[in-house]
Amino acid sequence: MSLQLGRTQFGDPSNAGKLLSREEAHGLFHDWVKNERLKLHMRQVAHLMHAWAREKEGLDETRSWKWELAGLLHDADWDQWPEQHCRKIIEELESRGVDPEVIRAIASHGPRHFGVDPETRMDHMLYAFDELSGLIHAYSLMRPEGYSGMELKGVKKRLKEKSFAANVNREEIADAAERAGLPLDELIMFIIQHQPAVTS
Ligand SMILES: [Fe+2]
Repeated sequence: MSLQLGRTQFGDPSNAGKLLSREEAHGLFHDWVKNERLKLHMRQVAHLMHAWAREKEGLDETRSWKWELAGLLHDADWDQWPEQHCRKIIEELESRGVDPEVIRAIASHGPRHFGVDPETRMDHMLYAFDELSGLIHAYSLMRPEGYSGMELKGVKKRLKEKSFAANVNREEIADAAERAGLPLDELIMFIIQHQPAVTS
């Protein structure tokens, strides 16, 4: 099975600035994704994208929604059509005339799988949050106190422990931080601080 997209241009440039409404986005999200764990992951990544856009990039609410939208829908086709991941969601968003930057961010959230390199800040952050947020969530589930009191050093210990959340790709985490030009510690701290807002 190849998930390579075989192209690096997405969407129609004349659709710049066109986003789905929150209602439309959540409609698609609930129609396509039935798996509760996957839904939680997608909402967590959406929340992190929004928080980063507001706090670190200083973007207004409309622009932050654009980041959140990319996070919310990035795995929308994984549940029902894993062999078409992430081609199907890309084509859906293209047919709905969504801003090419949102589509591109989704297309580049797994460069080794989809063959599209992250370029923009939004692309890089989606790739950086994807796997790392999953590992940190798994860590919260094994701690009796959940996220409360979670520390950087605990997360780093779990990262080194290959048998812990073994499906989380450590190489991708390191690659994503490097491509984003951000210290891994900063990404971990940001997730520890923001992810507890979305736990169910
Ligand atoms: Fe994901």
